Amino acid sequence: MQYVAHSSSLLLLGYDSAPHLLHLLLLAELFVRSSSCPISARSLCGAFRLMLPHLDRLNTFSKELHDLTDDELVYFEAVENTLDHLPLIRHNATSFRALKVNATLAQLYVYTHSFTIHVDWLRDARENLSLASSPAEGAGNHLLQLSGLLNASLHQIMEAVPRTATPPLPPITTAFEAQLYSFQVSERLRVFCDWSRRVLHHLQRRSCCPRR
Ligand SMILES: *[C@@H]1O[C@H](CO)[C@@H](O)[C@H](O)[C@H]1NC(C)=O
Ligand SMILES: *[C@@H]1O[C@H](CO)[C@@H](O)[C@H](O)[C@H]1NC(C)=O
Ligand SMILES: *[C@@H]1O[C@H](CO)[C@@H](O)[C@H](O)[C@H]1NC(C)=O
Ligand SMILES: *[C@@H]1O[C@H](CO)[C@@H](O)[C@H](O)[C@H]1NC(C)=O
Repeated sequence: MQYVAHSSSLLLLGYDSAPHLLHLLLLAELFVRSSSCPISARSLCGAFRLMLPHLDRLNTFSKELHDLTDDELVYFEAVENTLDHLPLIRHNATSFRALKVNATLAQLYVYTHSFTIHVDWLRDARENLSLASSPAEGAGNHLLQLSGLLNASLHQIMEAVPRTATPPLPPITTAFEAQLYSFQVSERLRVFCDWSRRVLHHLQRRSCCPRR
């Protein structure tokens, strides 16, 4: 309706080339939007919008997972990551364009599950050793909410929810180990938050989700 009203007002202006060009541009945009965005694609917009604040909070908690001083950080940064099951995300512009909604949501679900297991493990260890554990607990809560939203989205598009494995994680017996593992999870979790936010913004654009 909006478009019709717009085009007739353009016609009233006569056939000056400028409004004519505008008319064509509007038509072109209308065509691109309707052809690349079926209504069904928008059904996930609500879920995408709910996921983003959890990633923001998760990003904040991920930075607080360890309480290392700058000097200690320099040392820990030099140690190779020893948590084999912790997701390592590598991405580039090409891999972004090739994303499929179903496979991407399934991948996010698997990553979220893996981080949940690791963060819960850290929380237990830090509690055992009387180290601050509330950032791990906070991160765990947001991962759980994210997981629920991803599960619901996968159901909504009739996609199978991936089976997830629970990797074996060693007991943590010293404060040093707890700090080292907290640092390693923190680093990977931040990459995950950054990647996931970009992926969701990308999917929002592709699904023509309304901007807020
Ligand atoms: C981008 O990522 C894809 C898949 O992960 C990979 O095959 C490709 O080589 C990468 N491209 C560049 C330029 O790194
Ligand atoms: C995603 O959906 C496409 C069809 O739209 C299908 O071919 C593909 O197997 C699905 N991928 C996954 C990982 O389920
Ligand atoms: C996933 O979603 C389905 C359908 O909404 C629900 O029945 C199921 O309990 C959920 N599973 C988890 C692990 O949240
Ligand atoms: C925390 O302590 C309990 C009880 O001693 C132990 O079973 C568990 O493995 C410890 N957690 C971690 C992550 O080390």
